[in-house]
Amino acid sequence: MIWKWLGALLLFPVQMVYLVVKAAVCTVLPPKLRDLSGENVLVTGGGRGIGRHLAREFAKRGAKKIILWGRTEKCLKETTEEIRMMGTECHYFICDVGNREEVYRQAKAVREKVGDITILVNNAAVVHGKSLMDSDDDALLKSQHINTLGQFWVRQALEYGHIVCLNSVLALSAIPGAIDYCTSKASSFAFMESLTLGLLDCPGVNATTVLPFHTSTEMFQGMRIRFPNLFPPLKPETVARRTVEAVRMNQAFLLLPWTMHVLVILKSILPQAALDEIYKFSGSYTCMNTFKGRT
Ligand SMILES: NC(=O)c1ccc[n+]([C@@H]2O[C@H](COP(=O)([O-])OP(=O)(O)OC[C@H]3O[C@@H](n4cnc5c(N)ncnc54)[C@H](OP(=O)(O)O)[C@@H]3O)[C@@H](O)[C@H]2O)c1
Repeated sequence: MIWKWLGALLLFPVQMVYLVVKAAVCTVLPPKLRDLSGENVLVTGGGRGIGRHLAREFAKRGAKKIILWGRTEKCLKETTEEIRMMGTECHYFICDVGNREEVYRQAKAVREKVGDITILVNNAAVVHGKSLMDSDDDALLKSQHINTLGQFWVRQALEYGHIVCLNSVLALSAIPGAIDYCTSKASSFAFMESLTLGLLDCPGVNATTVLPFHTSTEMFQGMRIRFPNLFPPLKPETVARRTVEAVRMNQAFLLLPWTMHVLVILKSILPQAALDEIYKFSGSYTCMNTFKGRT
């Protein structure tokens, strides 16, 4: 027994070094990308913003069928037509992901009309964009229902396959003035982390969490960053392209851009007073003062 335990203890650091070296080598070698030709992809919030770009990117990379969920029929219809013009089968369903009964109903409708979903992209989200004192209860609840709980309900649409979550760097480093959003994204991150670990022993079921920095859609319209030339917003098409690539590489977590890793490291080593100064200097404290969001 003791020899077995000692063997495992000695093997562990070797295994760690091997895995780190393997990951480093993989970053420089051309990645082996999964073929998407048999995949039925459901994108929540697929009518506009990053979701629309995700639908385009999955279609461009050869997905078999694209299914879009959202609340606004006009933009769902437009995206569906665009994807069909690309030669890919596409369907849309009106579905509020914060409404559990509606999600279950539409998950059943998708299964009957289109077949099994094999890639589920949890992309739908809202931001109320106010401080705690300025927020009303309903708005706070709405963000948690859509951004976090929605993922529990939408999970019903997938029997096996790949779950993808469009999260945010704000899950790891919050800002004031978006307390509803940061809270929902942090708990959604924990949801995905727990799910990812739980799936380690489930071959054929995978998870990818993408944590992008500010992206130029209407979601954070008006938000002002102090050094926009140093930290320009990401383009939604870049986020979509990198997300689909991460799915095809079966990457569990993706921070966009990679420089956000520095923020995560600094957060874990610097004293709070130093972090406060960084937040003040970078304008994170005040960036939401000019926030308008979707008008
Ligand atoms: N923009 C950024 O700076 C940024 C940065 C990091 C991460 N992200 C994340 O990326 C994802 C997409 O954001 P985005 O920038 O594309 O935002 P967006 O332009 O506001 O789009 C949000 C999408 O979610 C849908 N949606 C909202 N509530 C819904 C509900 N209850 N049920 C179904 N669909 C709903 C919207 O469609 P309907 O309104 O028609 O329902 C829309 O298609 C979000 O998860 C967001 O948190 C965004």
